[in-house]
Amino acid sequence: MPHNSSGWWRTAAIYQVYVRSFADGDGDGTGDLAGVRARLPYLASLGVEALWFTPWYVSPLADGGYDVTDYRAIDPAFGTLDEAEKLISEARQLGLRTIVDVVPNHVSDEHPWFRAALAAPPGSPERDLFHFREGRGPDGELPPNEWRSEFGGPAWSRTTTPEGKPGQWYLHLFASGQPDLNWAHPRVREEHEDILRFWFERGAAGIRIDSAALLAKDPDLPDFEPGRGPHPYVDRDELHDVYRSWRAVADAYGGVLIGELWLPDVERFARYLRADELHTAFNFDTLSRPWDPDQLRESIDATLAAHSGVGAPATWVLANHDVTRTVTRYGREETGFAFAAKRFGTPTDLELGTRRARAAALLTLALPGAVYLYQGEELGLPEADIPRDRITDPMHARSGGVDPGRDGCRVPLPWEGIRPPYGFGGADTWLPQPADWARYTAERQEGEPESMLSLYRSALHLRRGRAERAADELTWFDAGPGVLAFSRPDGLVCVVNLSAGPVPLPAHTAVLLSSGPLDDAGLLPQDTAAWLQG
Ligand code: NOJ
Repeated sequence: MPHNSSGWWRTAAIYQVYVRSFADGDGDGTGDLAGVRARLPYLASLGVEALWFTPWYVSPLADGGYDVTDYRAIDPAFGTLDEAEKLISEARQLGLRTIVDVVPNHVSDEHPWFRAALAAPPGSPERDLFHFREGRGPDGELPPNEWRSEFGGPAWSRTTTPEGKPGQWYLHLFASGQPDLNWAHPRVREEHEDILRFWFERGAAGIRIDSAALLAKDPDLPDFEPGRGPHPYVDRDELHDVYRSWRAVADAYGGVLIGELWLPDVERFARYLRADELHTAFNFDTLSRPWDPDQLRESIDATLAAHSGVGAPATWVLANHDVTRTVTRYGREETGFAFAAKRFGTPTDLELGTRRARAAALLTLALPGAVYLYQGEELGLPEADIPRDRITDPMHARSGGVDPGRDGCRVPLPWEGIRPPYGFGGADTWLPQPADWARYTAERQEGEPESMLSLYRSALHLRRGRAERAADELTWFDAGPGVLAFSRPDGLVCVVNLSAGPVPLPAHTAVLLSSGPLDDAGLLPQDTAAWLQG
């Protein structure tokens, strides 16, 4: 039996808490740990089994906390280490495990290592922890290579010498405030293994690994030439050795490693999930696919096949803090997500998008494996339009103002009441909340059986008991053109109608749940899903 064959993480529903926007306990307009602690009963009653917290460490917030200054301390805006420990243990008492987010590819430019590197001369051991290089051109005025930042613009910034002259360049695959670490350096590896121990010792059940495929760099830092050998920094073979060491650390605590891997090749992706590497990883393929029965079926089949080859459970992700909110994405002409395609003012039919998002929720929650649910999805929040002068995401500025960035899915949650801040906490929320969000508050949706919150809660509770019992299998059957229909070994049948009209339900003994009402003739309407007992 593979090493990986049991464990809560194989079937769990995991809720992503974007701390800055979840709930604000001290009234300063920024979410914090006190806010999360006060809302733990809400999370427990939702029916999820674990919480993943986006980075809560000391950070200048150049990239929403993915620019870490101290991996062992909580940012004062969020609280203290003592509070984090309390939160982890209170959550556990309510049956909620904690996953912390570790960012190994880069640090903040305020991290002591980077400050020391800037203060030290070229060629120094301090600089060797990063990627410092001389520039090209007669005066070194050109970056060392042509690599581009994931956020747009060059992946290099130039330093200034103590004499005020232009100096070496340093590599940052993201914003300039996020210098990349040199993963060929043993000190970098030791430090991160120690950070893992630090959080496992404080009760973390799992670690989410940020940008997990980008750490290793070709030491020559060559330009990327498609078709000519391995990529200079994506998915390099050296990485597997790093994760084997991490696995040994995690195993000593019974902890789980979850990789953030955006890799188009499912076979390459699955290599990270071999029995002595990561336990699991986010599958982003499904959210990149359009609302189309063939595309979704293909994505599900490819995902299941790649995972079963290595004995790992599949994962399902409809949204997170980097992508367009589901009800918005599914209400647009382009229903598959692509970073490069994000623009201001894209026409959106929210009613259509919401209907599809409800059906997609039942689809993903019925599939074998684990599900990640991003905060606010259970409220059906749409992507918010953030006025340009309030946008904080570096993706916006680095795209020359073309990309609206990711702030639209990071707006503080509406909890109760009829006007901002909707019970979030302080009125001066770090991102503005739309004036028409009273209809989305958790309080309002609690009492509505047809609300998104009620749908998620019912589905999560029905799923919870079943998920552990049902083996990993899924059997497709034909329920007509444009209809996705499958059964699970415990008798659950899921039917999703992506055809252009209503369809009859397949044979069943009971309708357990549906994402919208059946029509008067008992047919399943377009863009609607149902869970049946077969
Ligand atoms: C992935 C994170 O999800 C994203 O928010 C962040 O900007 C990048 N990694 C860089 O850390």
